[in-house]
Order: sequence, then structure tokens, then C-alpha cells
Amino acid sequence: MKKKTLIINGSPKCENSLTFKVAKAFADGLSAEDGSSAESIHVSKLNIKPCTGCLSCWGRTEGVCVIKDDSMPEVRRKILSADTIIIAFPIYFFGMPGTLKTLIDRLLGIMCTFSGQELDNIKAGRHALRTPRPGQRLAVIASCGFSESEEAFHPIKVQYDLSIGEGKYAHFCCPQLKALAQAGSGQRFEKICAISRQAGMQFAHGSIDPALVELLEKPVLTRNTYRMLMEKFWKDEKGADENDKNSSRSRRSRQVTGTALGRRA
Ligand SMILES: Cc1cc2nc3c(=O)[nH]c(=O)nc-3n(C[C@H](O)[C@H](O)[C@H](O)COP(=O)(O)O)c2cc1C
Repeated sequence: MKKKTLIINGSPKCENSLTFKVAKAFADGLSAEDGSSAESIHVSKLNIKPCTGCLSCWGRTEGVCVIKDDSMPEVRRKILSADTIIIAFPIYFFGMPGTLKTLIDRLLGIMCTFSGQELDNIKAGRHALRTPRPGQRLAVIASCGFSESEEAFHPIKVQYDLSIGEGKYAHFCCPQLKALAQAGSGQRFEKICAISRQAGMQFAHGSIDPALVELLEKPVLTRNTYRMLMEKFWKDEKGADENDKNSSRSRRSRQVTGTALGRRA
């Protein structure tokens, strides 16, 4: 049977998200090697209610969530039937975007109930699936604005190591993506996507070569170029905002003049 890959995109920019584009390239590489088909879900297009914290899914209902009138039942089905799950998101305040965290919290029911069992090492992970799908794998692909991707990703890595288990999932975090997409005609960004595709191809056969991960996580732009590009970006943004304000001011004044002369209502 054809393998299935599910990309869960946590960026509110949906299809335009740079992280999503990197994740999609990864899924393309994976598909080139294992013939899998990829489906993407954009978290901010879904209706996901926050977990109520009732713990019914662990105590009373054997994994079933009490909230049934939102997108989560379908998301859970997709997650449980995927061979590879790619969670893609931009780093927000050294964490994941809140909408994605809301989705993750709602997955408690598919995890084993915690009854105080002790784990002797971080490699085990504290949230195992209730009904694991044999061979199911996870890749966490993040991006950040800063140059220091290891620092930006660190809190996420701790979260995933504790939940899933250290070494049990692939991960990388691309730095400077916004600036890279701005630089030149986006060629540097395209290069990152090409490396991500290669990483996906390697992932299909096992793990990603650490040298490739290093390439994905290494800041491409020097500190000075990065600063220059970002300063230009904010300046252009301000300019665009001023232009917007000016054109709406002149539109309004045309309307007022028109009204005063009795030409427009
Ligand atoms: C609300 C918000 C918080 C952010 N916080 C961080 C941060 O803590 N560290 C960082 O390096 N980048 C931060 N960024 C920048 C994004 O992670 C970065 O621009 C990312 O590459 C955007 O990816 P996307 O195009 O997939 O949405 C933040 C952006 C936003 C909008």
C-alpha cells in the first residue's frame, strides 16, 4: 500500500509560509524515495477548540475526547493513519505558535495514560501513543528569524525529547529564513529547500546525515548582511505603510471634495 505523509503546518501564513515550503521540499524528497503521497493541513484554517483539561480521555472514555464538534476528530484520524508526520512551524517566542500548541494539547487522548510510571532516561519519552502505528515516524521542521537556530529551537527540543524521546524523531531548525527569502531573488532560500529535499530522501532510508542538518541550521548570511537586509526590509515596510496611508488619505480627500461639490454621495 502507498505510504502516507502528513504535513501539519503551524504557520499562520499557510501555503505562503517559508517553513512550510522547506517542509514540503522534505516531503518531496521522501516521496521520491519511498513513493509516499503527502497531504498538508494548515492549522490556522482549522477550527480547533482548546483542551478543557478534564482528562476524560485518560480516565473515562478510553482515548475519546469530549469535544467532538471541531476539526480534531479528523486531524486525529489523519495523524493515526500517517506513516510519516512532519510538524512544521515558525518559532514564536522560543516556542511553537499557540494554534499548533492547541492542536498538540488535544492529542492527549491518543497517548497512553500517565499513572506515575518512572522513566529512567530521556530516550524513552513520556507520551507514547496508545495504539502505535508500526513504523510511524516523526520529523519536526522549524524555522526562526534569528541567526542562532540552536538557541531558538532549544526549548522545543527539550519539549519533544521529554514527550517523544531523545533521538526518536528527526529535527532541524532553519535560521534567517525571512532574510534569506529577501536576499537576491530568493536563490539562497531555494538552496535551503534543495538541501531539505535531500534530507527527506535520506530520511526515507533512515536518519539524516548530521552534516546535512548542519547545513540546514547554519546561518547563511553574515551578521552584517543579515542586519542590512533586515533594516532594508523594515524600511521598505514603513515606506509601503506610508504609501498606503497617503493613497487612502488622497482617496478620502477626493471623496470629500466630490461630496462638497455635490458630485458624489
Ligand atoms: C509572533 C512572532 C514571534 C517570533 N518569535 C521569534 C523568536 O522567538 N525567535 C526567532 O528566531 N524568530 C522569531 N520569529 C520569527 C519567525 O520565527 C520567522 O520569521 C519564521 O521564519 C517565519 O516562518 P513562516 O514564514 O513559516 O511563518 C517570530 C515571529 C513572530 C510573528
